[in-house]
Amino acid sequence: MLIEIDSERIQSEIDQLAKISEASPPVVTRVLFSKADLQARAYVQARCTNLDLALREDVVGNIFAHWQGQDPDLPAVATGSHIDAIPNAGKYDGVVGVLGALEAIRGLKRSGFKPRRSIELVIFTAEEPTRFGIGCLGSRLLAGALAPEQALQLTDSAGKRLADWLGEVYPQSGDLQSVRLVPNFYSAFIELHIEQGPLLERQRIDLGVVEQIAAPATLRLEFIGEGGHAGAVLMPDRHDALLAGAEIALAVESAAKESQSPDTVGTTGVFRIEPGAVNSVPYRALLEIDLRDTRLSTRDSALQRIRENILAVTRRRGVQAHLDVINQDPPAVCDAALVQAALQAAARVGLSARCMVSRAYHDSLFMAQTCPTTMLFIPCRNGVSHRPDEYASPEAISKGTLVLAQLLEQLAS
Ligand code: GLV
Ligand code: MN
Ligand code: MN
Repeated sequence: MLIEIDSERIQSEIDQLAKISEASPPVVTRVLFSKADLQARAYVQARCTNLDLALREDVVGNIFAHWQGQDPDLPAVATGSHIDAIPNAGKYDGVVGVLGALEAIRGLKRSGFKPRRSIELVIFTAEEPTRFGIGCLGSRLLAGALAPEQALQLTDSAGKRLADWLGEVYPQSGDLQSVRLVPNFYSAFIELHIEQGPLLERQRIDLGVVEQIAAPATLRLEFIGEGGHAGAVLMPDRHDALLAGAEIALAVESAAKESQSPDTVGTTGVFRIEPGAVNSVPYRALLEIDLRDTRLSTRDSALQRIRENILAVTRRRGVQAHLDVINQDPPAVCDAALVQAALQAAARVGLSARCMVSRAYHDSLFMAQTCPTTMLFIPCRNGVSHRPDEYASPEAISKGTLVLAQLLEQLAS
């Protein structure tokens, strides 16, 4: 069956969606439950409705757009990604997997394809951890990897809990328990995404098929020291929370660099101090630390080393530490048969493809706990992501979308 992808249409939708942002162009910022996030959801939902997809939203705001197959009792084939964006992001991360999937479905419809299994597009709530410090909130709950009662207590930096947010944004909604999918609710899940790394572009390869997804651990660390006058508190008497935090930020770097695995990476992406005045000793420091690896053992050894450093710093500097391990996830292994099917689908349309590891995490990390899963990566310029200058060419997006459409056709037939 000839499937045609309308590259201009995807690009124009990507550009329109990028305008829905909390920041001025070219910066895209769409934090969970912000006005921009809610508007972006409405934008995508309207596009799904135009395509005659039946919409459903669960209690945490995951959106499901359903194309009913001829045998609706069979588990559907699912695809999708996220449309929330971290502060100072670009327009492709997540969005390509949503608007590309929409175009794949449109292309299949145009070709006259009639799916036997239903096809479902999923737009996940808060893949990005910005508001609550935890990534993949929606897919985590779908997979049962986060207990609903724990989720409801998640708190943002303004002290507002998920429970409060849900009461405001979805006042009619029900019990968070209902979000969890039964095992094999879907027959397969495929996520199209930009690579967020340089390999495909460097090697001039059209498509990456993901075999393994690295496992993140996220830590929130608070140091409470003692504040005071920057002129009057003598150096031997100080309990400076910032300096304790600075030592840990460096310890994170060393733990990752000196790990036995080249895939261990560690980042202190949040570091806030109080009171934040030039002539005042910082009495509080809040750090958020992201640590990842494709191997659990080396990731967890690095984590252990960071814990030991925290203990040593608190003793040496006379500060208190409160460490909250927000998540400590296992890596995902993608489904071997789906990986093969994706490689073959690429070959059928004359595209080059290779297997690869995802060092970023994705909703697929959790979907893989519920059904056979893989991801399709397309090249992005210089491997740049999580920045406003993130870019994937219309041709690259169109190629990825075509392979996604081919796969959906095969899996839904
Ligand atoms: C997802 O955005 C990640 O941080 O890997
Ligand atoms: Mn991201
Ligand atoms: Mn993403």
